[in-house]
Amino acid sequence: MSSSDKNFTGSIPEVYDDFLVPLIFETYARDMAQRVAEIAPNAVLETAAGSGVVTRALAPLLAPDTRYVVSDLNPPMLARAEQKQPPDPRLEWQQADAMALPFADQVFDTVCCQFGVMFLPDKPQGFREAWRVLREGGQFIFNVWDHISENEFAQSVTETAAGFFPDDPPQFLPRTPHGYHDTQSIVAALKGAGFTTVSAQTITSQSQAEGPHVPAIAYCQGTPLRNELEQRQSGSLEKITKAATSDIERRFGSGPVSAKIQGQVFSATR
Ligand SMILES: C[S@@+](CC[C@H](N)C(=O)[O-])C[C@H]1O[C@@H](n2cnc3c(N)ncnc32)[C@H](O)[C@@H]1O
Repeated sequence: MSSSDKNFTGSIPEVYDDFLVPLIFETYARDMAQRVAEIAPNAVLETAAGSGVVTRALAPLLAPDTRYVVSDLNPPMLARAEQKQPPDPRLEWQQADAMALPFADQVFDTVCCQFGVMFLPDKPQGFREAWRVLREGGQFIFNVWDHISENEFAQSVTETAAGFFPDDPPQFLPRTPHGYHDTQSIVAALKGAGFTTVSAQTITSQSQAEGPHVPAIAYCQGTPLRNELEQRQSGSLEKITKAATSDIERRFGSGPVSAKIQGQVFSATR
């Protein structure tokens, strides 16, 4: 993992929230919110909450006396989430690294994390931390993206960018968000962290946008792929966003576009 892969800062939070969230995250956020709400927890911790798409879906489903702590490593992402959330006394906003949680042992009934685990350099440590802050019987629910070949816009953008730098292709998307999906090894890591029962389910959906420019901007400019492109020749970001738009248009059409996305959701019980 490159050190810039975790940096959702600068212009990324705004583009992420405006372009990428409606494209690929909202569907999975509804699913995640439903799963957590069914547990009817008294205290929930969300890690790697980003710009708050799960928080917006989950908060309305929780009981009036629920404690809901919303956390992320990057304050600009959390600021965006807080800004978009209606005032709600149940919510606490907290900067936190999911590998070193600033909470006492056994204080939450549920820990949820949408598409954040892949960003942890030490995933078993992140799992141990989720286990530590959960009460006996509490659940850790998180999802991960499947291999990039199952996620067509991400694959298309990666191929476009590789065409510009064939000797050293920008690899953020396959390396990090699409780099941790082997079900058996994830289950083994969760059991190694102390979880007793673990289940996994694959969820396939379609990402839809009003035109090919939307996925191109979303992936090139609203993710840390942007950091990788900006470190290259000047003008790379704009050039590659334009080329990605053309490639998506060629493969998916010039009007509204739609492409496969796929992830897996894990539920692990302490
Ligand atoms: C793909 S985004 C997912 C955000 C949000 N859950 C969503 O569904 O839109 C990944 C998030 O992980 C956060 N992140 C990266 N490293 C982290 C860490 N060590 N601890 C907590 N959050 C982290 C990033 O700041 C970013 O908000």
